[in-house]
Amino acid sequence: MGDKPLKKIAILGSTGSIGVNALDVIENLPMCRVWGLSAQRNVELLKAQVRRFQPKVVVVSDGAAADQLRRWTGSRFPKTKIWTGAAGLERLAGQKDVDLLLSSVVGAVGLLPLLAALKAGKKVALANKEALIIAGDLLMATARKYGAKILPVDSEHSAIFQCLTPLGACQACRTGLTSALKIKRIILTASGGAFYRRKGSLDRVSVAEALAHPTWKMGQKITIDCATLTNKGLEAIEAHHLFGVPMENIQIVIHPQSIVHSLVEFEDGAMLAQLSHPDMRLPIQYALTYPERLPSSVRPLELEEIQKLEFYRPDFRRFPSLKLALKAGGLGGTWPAVFNGANEIAVRLFLQEKISFLGVSRLVAQVMKAYSNKAHRQNGAIGLDGILAADRWARQMAEELSS
Ligand SMILES: NC(=O)c1ccc[n+]([C@@H]2O[C@H](COP(=O)([O-])OP(=O)(O)OC[C@H]3O[C@@H](n4cnc5c(N)ncnc54)[C@H](OP(=O)(O)O)[C@@H]3O)[C@@H](O)[C@H]2O)c1
Repeated sequence: MGDKPLKKIAILGSTGSIGVNALDVIENLPMCRVWGLSAQRNVELLKAQVRRFQPKVVVVSDGAAADQLRRWTGSRFPKTKIWTGAAGLERLAGQKDVDLLLSSVVGAVGLLPLLAALKAGKKVALANKEALIIAGDLLMATARKYGAKILPVDSEHSAIFQCLTPLGACQACRTGLTSALKIKRIILTASGGAFYRRKGSLDRVSVAEALAHPTWKMGQKITIDCATLTNKGLEAIEAHHLFGVPMENIQIVIHPQSIVHSLVEFEDGAMLAQLSHPDMRLPIQYALTYPERLPSSVRPLELEEIQKLEFYRPDFRRFPSLKLALKAGGLGGTWPAVFNGANEIAVRLFLQEKISFLGVSRLVAQVMKAYSNKAHRQNGAIGLDGILAADRWARQMAEELSS
């Protein structure tokens, strides 16, 4: 490995849960260098990251926070450039010096930088699922057109990718895998989130309770999405785009131990699965080093310590957002953008204690109902403008319905 060129990596969302884990992974990978970092406004953590990795560029989306960081880097790190705004994110994503982009911002804000990276033919380690949810067809077509590769970071999709890699699925960015590899079903496992085992009504559960995930430590938005089971619906849409498997061939099972990260069933009934302790450093590292496997600091799995692995059918009545997400994915077109936009607003309102926990799925359902009555809704293949318009419409409708 000694004479291999260094892999220059840019991270969108380096101050988040995935970003911080990724920097820990990179520190132990001698062939990787941090070229660029980004955050929305967490200047204190960015300062520590600049000190540790001395990147060429840092993008701070918030203008005032960017000025603050620029004043601090000034004479201390004069070679580190500070860019700002949405344009700064796109510029970093498409930089020719960057060999691999890790996209780990949260929400639809990741769409345009991802598109820029794919148009520049980059390798992208993708954690930011929302971009793929709202514009999967467009992004996969763009990746194919420009020879870009998308390597999944989400643990479930990494698991499927790892099951398929030895079979010749040399990149996730391919269609037709279902027929070529005789895939019958993809089975996505779900921890069940904070409330799966809880009895009684969920209407009065607090934000703190919803944020107490039993197995994973993650950012707030995805943790709430796990508590409503929305996350698993989003992941089904993500798997549909990454692996070219029809939505109806993607099944969800509750697996409270979070040891089996997902499974693939083939035409003959054989199943492959990937197992490990729940630790995002493993899928992050695989995406960064693919196709190589290198030693990692992830705790080895001793099966006799685990003893039992349980699998249950999800309860769609108690967690209606899961059904709504699957419905949006099945309809395709701009429906997933509408679902996602409404969900992002609803989760923010819940975190701000403006709506209840069950209010999240109620609000998303109301927005979807309003969209089904909308004269100009679109079900077929859709361009970027149509996607962005649907996203804006859904956010505005969610705000109006909740005020
Ligand atoms: N966390 C996990 O274990 C996990 C697992 C699988 C998939 N994912 C996916 O990975 C993505 C990131 O999740 P996370 O848990 O790491 O989120 P997180 O902890 O909330 O971090 C989000 C990152 O994005 C930045 N950011 C937020 N809003 C932004 C905006 N408007 N413009 C620019 N940057 C913005 C944040 O900057 P500030 O710190 O300055 O706010 C932060 O760096 C999500 O799509 C999630 O679904 C996460």
